Amino acid sequence: MKDSNFEISRFFENKSNIFRDESIFSPSYIPNVLIHREDTLRQLTNYFKSIFTLNFPPSGKSVIIQGSVGLGKTVVVKKFGKAVETFCKSSSSRPSMKIIYFHINCRRQRTWYLVLTSILRHFILAFPPRGYSTDELIQLLTRILKERNQHLLLCLDEIDYLIIDKKSQDELYSLIRGHEEDLNDNRSHISLILITRDPHFLLFLDSALYSSLSQTIIVFSKYSEQQLYEILIDRANSGLKSTTYTEEVIRMIASLTYEVGDVRYAIELLWRAAKLAESELSSSIEFEHVRKSHSCIMPIKKSVITDLPIHQQFILMALALLLINDRSKSQITTMKLKEKYYEICKKNRLKPRRQTQFWGYLQKLSALGLIKLNVYNKHKEGKSLGRTTCISIHSFSAEQLVEQINNFSY
Ligand SMILES: Nc1ncnc2c1ncn2[C@@H]1O[C@H](COP(=O)(O)OP(=O)(O)O)[C@@H](O)[C@H]1O
Ligand SMILES: [Mg+2]
Repeated sequence: MKDSNFEISRFFENKSNIFRDESIFSPSYIPNVLIHREDTLRQLTNYFKSIFTLNFPPSGKSVIIQGSVGLGKTVVVKKFGKAVETFCKSSSSRPSMKIIYFHINCRRQRTWYLVLTSILRHFILAFPPRGYSTDELIQLLTRILKERNQHLLLCLDEIDYLIIDKKSQDELYSLIRGHEEDLNDNRSHISLILITRDPHFLLFLDSALYSSLSQTIIVFSKYSEQQLYEILIDRANSGLKSTTYTEEVIRMIASLTYEVGDVRYAIELLWRAAKLAESELSSSIEFEHVRKSHSCIMPIKKSVITDLPIHQQFILMALALLLINDRSKSQITTMKLKEKYYEICKKNRLKPRRQTQFWGYLQKLSALGLIKLNVYNKHKEGKSLGRTTCISIHSFSAEQLVEQINNFSY
């Protein structure tokens, strides 16, 4: 019997046999290197160069960043903001105007009033929560920046929550054009980075805003499966103990998540699988931990499996049993699967289907997203030996599947 006190004390001591540093998986963690986004960082630096280097930046700069969820938009801009601040602090490269970076998430601060007061509170600690119109707040902010000889680099993340009508557009316009009213100081004091998920964001803006903002748009494209794998491996290297994961496990997570392209989900899945391995006191993350974690987040309805024709259920069952039997494997060859399927048919006194039909079932299960067919070209000494197909399950746990299809012998 296990000494439970020992386990509890280990829990309190916070010693993990899986994690080296769990904070690496937190959504707010900013990695040292942003793999595959160096180009974007360079683009941003180039674009904003004039506010660092010119004594009198002629006009504020604005950039729009567009891309769907989990593509690294927030982290790239935060990294850029940090780099700008570090650059400004180093005495040798100090620009003529001090640049301060602000990152506002508009999902949390959904009105201009909230956005502006939270910035102003940085300058005036006890800034009153009420009593000003938005225009007055913009004027006040611009005045403070001028007096202090500062340039505000403001990132409005998830701007779609803020720009919802004509009024909110006008306010954005006032912020961009605020400095133009002062004839004594024609330097610009505000630059903007607007992050949106909406590919049509610009189309909804009125013409004045459109022409101010449409010059620079950076579109974030989806990561490929390989890129996702490299990002995950990097996270695993920093956050997990080296013996607790294999490249294959990381590849499986990349392959499961790349169609959605959401890195946040990929990292979360790795973290969940690691947590599960930890709670089961396993010494490493297994494929089954990944499958279980994935199915917890995206459960497949039980009926999707139990409503399948019996032979397809047998095939799934055969696959699940083989994967449970050999936990070091993430996929099974068609030949092995067919053997096991035959065995199950025999035990249940059913005539197995022939090759063509068996293959047809595999295609169907794959189309339903229940299995994945991975085709490989076989080579020996430069000669092609044809193709082989291996089958894996991603979207549910093999153990749960066996529990669900429990109405026949195997
Ligand atoms: N190129 C990358 N290298 C390392 N981590 C990345 C990269 N791109 C995204 N991430 C990570 O993925 C997660 C989601 O990124 P985030 O910037 O929040 O996406 P978005 O803002 O596009 O929804 C974060 O944990 C982030 O650190
Ligand atoms: Mg974001």
